[in-house]
Amino acid sequence: METINLENKKGKVTISKYLQGQFSEHLGSGIYGGIWVGKDSSIPNIRGIRSDVVEALKNLHIPVLRWPGGFFSDIYHWRDGVGSIRYPIINTSWGNDLESNEFGTDEFFDFCQQIGAEPYLNINMSSGTIHEMTDWLEYITSPVGKMADLRKKNGHEEPWKLKFIGIGNEEWGEDGHMRPEFYADLYRLWQTFAHQYDPTQPPLFKVACGPNIDDFNWTNVVMENANEFMDGLSLHHYGLTDLWDKKGYATDFEPKEWDSLLYSIRKMDYFIHEHGLRMAKYDPTHRIKLIVDEWGDWLHNEPHTNPAYLYQQNTIRDAVMAATTLNIFAKHAELVGMANIAQTVNVLQSMILTKKDQMILTPTYYVFDMYKYHQNAKRIAAYNDNGDPLTYTVSEKDNKYIISVCNTSQTEKNTIKFIFKDELGGILYHKRLHADKNDAHNSFNNPNNIQLMEYGDYQITKNTITLPLKDKDIVTVILNK
Ligand code: AHR
Repeated sequence: METINLENKKGKVTISKYLQGQFSEHLGSGIYGGIWVGKDSSIPNIRGIRSDVVEALKNLHIPVLRWPGGFFSDIYHWRDGVGSIRYPIINTSWGNDLESNEFGTDEFFDFCQQIGAEPYLNINMSSGTIHEMTDWLEYITSPVGKMADLRKKNGHEEPWKLKFIGIGNEEWGEDGHMRPEFYADLYRLWQTFAHQYDPTQPPLFKVACGPNIDDFNWTNVVMENANEFMDGLSLHHYGLTDLWDKKGYATDFEPKEWDSLLYSIRKMDYFIHEHGLRMAKYDPTHRIKLIVDEWGDWLHNEPHTNPAYLYQQNTIRDAVMAATTLNIFAKHAELVGMANIAQTVNVLQSMILTKKDQMILTPTYYVFDMYKYHQNAKRIAAYNDNGDPLTYTVSEKDNKYIISVCNTSQTEKNTIKFIFKDELGGILYHKRLHADKNDAHNSFNNPNNIQLMEYGDYQITKNTITLPLKDKDIVTVILNK
């Protein structure tokens, strides 16, 4: 049994709600079919946006949603996707499909409002222009002017509210093959013209394109040359079971693929730490936040699906990886200001899978459902980097303790005991996500195979709580102080 003594610990650092952000890109059925069905669809919708998906996502209290990519953002020209005439383009980023542009800027902001999330816009730096960016920002945020008039003509009298923008995406890779010196100079130029046009709103929070996984040189160079012009630096890290071109499947996998995925996921802790050290050289107080705006399990696409659609099932293994990653983010809450799991619907490690009018919630969805209680709570303790299979987050908010624990072991039960300073009050919430099989998942034939269950195994004695966990088990309990 692991014992964690919290008698002398007090929550000082806030676990930002933005650590539970999401990401949705125009690829596969991530938008079309998954979110957007069109106003004339027989699937219930509000202004073209499917209502079942909205209701499910509202429940997660998603704080922020990144859009339109990813890779796609660097071929996206926003003028094609506003107004009554939409201009289809070829989605050369993902499978050369015809992108209808039916879901554009106004639809995205409408979707954000429907689910209660703040928008995070990724600007096209690679194939766009500064002029295109300034017009876009004016269209979205300005109360007056030529672009505001266009927005009004399109039915939106008031400016939309926008705070977060990313300038470029993975500019070191397929989006530009840039060197960090070149990107840093380009970023300095572009950000100069990126304005908030709404005088009632705070200035834009500008995110510069950060490193690929462990490219520490990128972080050094971009920070050295542009730190005074950024509020955030992005980081992308995906969990893999093997090398990039040998990705394992989401279901029907070997036990060793559980371990290798967990190893890959736990490296997030190391990458954050190492990039944080480089950032601190230029920004010791962490004014600039690390923005992990793409993370999650990247597995082989499902058989008989288009590889460019990144459609994968989602099992209890993914839930364990998500909980472990959220625990890592809580550990680094001083530095990590936002994180966006890839991606919300039908793509990679999604919350939701849809098939025509059907919708299922994934095990990862239920992790976010249990972890939402940590949003903006004060961290007391988080993660566990001593190689132990248990990872956790303990926080306090509104005179309550929130405790989440994940047993990452495929085979072993484990128990954890937390000792608090004062006597604990009554228990308010006790849920568990568990499955017997390593690849247990929900399907369209069996949509409720895995869902949250009541967790009754806890033991409370004065100032201690003991939580016995089964193998591959995630629990959250909330207690009065
Ligand atoms: O999330 C899928 C893709 O992964 C994104 O488009 C890209 O930024 C990253 O390589």
